[in-house]
Amino acid sequence: MFSRLEQLPPDPLLGLMELYRNDTNPNKIDLGVGVYKNERGDTPILAAVKQAEKNIFDEEATKAYIGPPGAASFNLAMQQLLFGKGHAALSENRVRTVQAPGGCGALRVAAEFIKRCDGNSNIWVSDPTWANHVPLLGGAGIKLKSYPYYDYQKHEVKFDAMLETLNQASNNDLVLLHGCCHNPSGADLTNEQWQQVTLLAEQKGFVPFIDLAYQGYGEGLSEDVYSIRLMSERLPEVIIASSCSKNFGLYRERVGSLSVIAANRKEADASLSHLTNVIRGIYSMPPSHGAAIVSTILEDDELTRLWHQELKEMRNRLNGMRALLVDKLSSAGASRDFSFIVNQKGMFSFLGLSGEQVTALQKNHSVYMASSSRINIAGINHNNVNYLTRAIISVL
Ligand SMILES: Cc1ncc(COP(=O)(O)O)c(C=O)c1O
Repeated sequence: MFSRLEQLPPDPLLGLMELYRNDTNPNKIDLGVGVYKNERGDTPILAAVKQAEKNIFDEEATKAYIGPPGAASFNLAMQQLLFGKGHAALSENRVRTVQAPGGCGALRVAAEFIKRCDGNSNIWVSDPTWANHVPLLGGAGIKLKSYPYYDYQKHEVKFDAMLETLNQASNNDLVLLHGCCHNPSGADLTNEQWQQVTLLAEQKGFVPFIDLAYQGYGEGLSEDVYSIRLMSERLPEVIIASSCSKNFGLYRERVGSLSVIAANRKEADASLSHLTNVIRGIYSMPPSHGAAIVSTILEDDELTRLWHQELKEMRNRLNGMRALLVDKLSSAGASRDFSFIVNQKGMFSFLGLSGEQVTALQKNHSVYMASSSRINIAGINHNNVNYLTRAIISVL
């Protein structure tokens, strides 16, 4: 039976990491996979996480199953992180949240849930979008359509074209939106643009499906959920897939959440029954440890303060590296204006290089990035920025 299988090519980004690992150039730079790195190039465990783990180690009393929706304490803490205390959708009892194995798990459970709601729904995704959206959502058998999003010439959101295309979405469609720190472009909507998308959703009846993988990496924990709070207040239905991989640095623990905002309590309860049933049929229940870390932090004022501080340091470092790279490129006389990088948010931006230039950077300078020229800003530090600047200028 297995003899019928043909070998698949390696995942392009993971293949790139393999090449990076085997590169012996001491100046090599990794701007590929989306993992936060500090000034020394490490991805350390946050101090708030370490302390929470110690508390859990001392206090955890059982390893019994936690059930398909995950830990109630985690789900409640995530609702408060997303909506803030006292949001209308919470007081109207319209929100149901389940724990998920990472943002990816939340996206896939959402796709299976959407299929049960309406087998003919389309999900509109931005062009470009995070590559894994396609298998995660399309793999559940849902048709994906795309809307224009990023203007590669102007290095900004093509907002008019986006709205014009979304005007074609119907009332059984969903529109996938990146809550903040758009991956791969780093170009986000302004609050005024979010208001316009909300208005369009109201008029057309499509359901916003918000993927939030970088809360706290853009402008701040509450600034980054402007769209979520606005849309959940104004619209009857919203879906939110949220990840704790980046903002808590819990990548391998696989922790995230999925929230469904329904028109009323009855529909919210019915939604939860289906989410629970979908989960039971895929992986039965989520792992416990990562979610326990998150709820331990969020339920403790001191640990929450420490986490806010560490998250702010990560955000400031990313913004600082954006400014430093732009400054170095400009003072080294780059023939192009890279100042757009400073206006973008989160971990990623496109440098705007051709495939040949990306290959030359890798072959001649050991600088590794996705073939689209998407760079992980966190891979830049004070030690490698001059080398990186010279390498980019040499291929321009
Ligand atoms: C846009 C986007 N959504 C979701 C995720 C999900 O991440 P995870 O499953 O690691 O929590 C990521 C991770 O890179 C992402 O970039």
